[in-house]
Amino acid sequence: MASMEKIVSLCKRRGFMFQSSEIYGGFGGFWDYGPLGVELKRNVKEAWWQDMISSHNELLLPEGAPATYEMVGLDSTIIMHPQVWKCSGHYDLFHDYMVDCRQSKKRYRFDQVRGRWVECKDQKIFVTTLADIEEEDAEVQRRALKFFKLRGKDADRLSYDGDFMTLDALDNMDQVLGPDANELGTLTEPREFNLMFKTTVGALSSEEDGAAYLRPETAQGIFVNFKNVLDSTRVRLPFGIAQVGKSFRNEITPRNFTFRSREFEQMEIEFFCPPDQSQQWYRYWRDRRVAWYKELGLSGDSIRMREHHAEELAHYSTGTADIEYAFPFLAEGEFGELEGVSHRGDFDLRSHMEGKLDPNTNPLTVELNEDGKPRHRGSGRDLSYRDEATNEKYIPHVVEPSAGADRATLAFLCEAYREDEAPDEKGKMQTRTLLKFHPRLAPLKAAVFPLVKKDGMPEVAKEIYGELKENLAVFYDEKGAVGRRYRRQDEVGTPYCITVDGQTMQDKTVTIRDRDSLEQWRVPMKEVSTEIQQRIRE
Ligand code: GAP
Repeated sequence: MASMEKIVSLCKRRGFMFQSSEIYGGFGGFWDYGPLGVELKRNVKEAWWQDMISSHNELLLPEGAPATYEMVGLDSTIIMHPQVWKCSGHYDLFHDYMVDCRQSKKRYRFDQVRGRWVECKDQKIFVTTLADIEEEDAEVQRRALKFFKLRGKDADRLSYDGDFMTLDALDNMDQVLGPDANELGTLTEPREFNLMFKTTVGALSSEEDGAAYLRPETAQGIFVNFKNVLDSTRVRLPFGIAQVGKSFRNEITPRNFTFRSREFEQMEIEFFCPPDQSQQWYRYWRDRRVAWYKELGLSGDSIRMREHHAEELAHYSTGTADIEYAFPFLAEGEFGELEGVSHRGDFDLRSHMEGKLDPNTNPLTVELNEDGKPRHRGSGRDLSYRDEATNEKYIPHVVEPSAGADRATLAFLCEAYREDEAPDEKGKMQTRTLLKFHPRLAPLKAAVFPLVKKDGMPEVAKEIYGELKENLAVFYDEKGAVGRRYRRQDEVGTPYCITVDGQTMQDKTVTIRDRDSLEQWRVPMKEVSTEIQQRIRE
């Protein structure tokens, strides 16, 4: 696979992605999509919408699905009532932590339960802030320790910010715990950080009463509209609500190009089903989503599905699988998350309904006031569902395939990047850079060239261009040697180039050149449009 530097350089040179506010030196964690990038990302989002929603036929049973189902869309706002985030758990729990290595000044972010490896002063240290979790919370301790054991094999020492680890637990560790890293001055204290961007609503609002947040996920817009969708359409369980839109997270260490940004787009489905079918739906969606990436070109070796260990699961989840891709910025054998498919139970609908979280199943989230009332009140609305056939009433369970449009776009770009040897116009073998996009994703579907800028060829080429342009993203180019023009199209992944030459002027045929095989063949001018459209659909 190509190095990330080459991909980033191509993206800038050919107008796929730019640093946001570049003329002012850029702004960390924000990226702009240029003329070709915007087409590519739109194609990714449109392929997702088309395949998951528009072309889904609710009358037919999809392969592997436990039942037929319906899919509808939604477009909810980025800023919502602040109570949404209190009931969803984001206000209290959507935190990351950071530590800095005092020597290298490198900053590391980690999440509360999982912790992470940090390299500082030639040491490999595992950092976590599990001390924040109540000492008597045996279940969380058990999960944490198990997690350390899974990962802790080659730690130099383990830094923990607290004293909840019991002797018994220490006996079970593979490593001897060293003193706290902070005491040695290696790392700074872990600092806590809520990832939601805060803003104020209304001209006269003070910080407290006007505080609102930019959504960190599109999912909550779906949950709070569950009843509206149910009441305004004829959908019945099982069904899914889909949404594509911007989300914002104040990431501590945005990095790896667009992989972790502060403003990004998500493509999320919340799939509502009867509780007793939920495990089957979870498996269905997990497999369906992996298949989708593969159909659009991610190859078997570069994509994998990783089921979370029980220790990694969110407290409300009975199953989560990450769909991961071997991004080139990762070390050999490492994978980065493209999409998470989670079984969320009835956690979200119940929280928005009751605002009360079950302390037995939800030790991380529950916060009851002294009077035993929930800290954050729910909406009080009945978000349960009545099954018309059985008259049974229940809160639906949710399976959530949650994908990132920017990460998917980046993965398709990385996968498409190739260098090969191909003959130039003089027949000499030269290194060629190409983006081998699936035709559905390619920003441009075809380019039209007159071989030379005379003898009536530009006029004919423009006519073909005009006809194709009615249905497809096409590019017209008459500048420079035709070989160079081919190379420029290969480099941005255009699957077909159409050339008008001397023979066209006699027999009204043109050549079509295939980006991948370099094969060229002639077709009558009047059939070009149909032929290209057919090939793109294949
Ligand atoms: N509603 C569930 C949810 O938001 P998540 O795993 O936090 O789950 C889902 O996010 C997907 O959104 C990720 O798999 C990733 O593709 C994308 N994503 C999350 N944070 C991102 C970031 N900072 N930059 C780019 N994409 C991000």
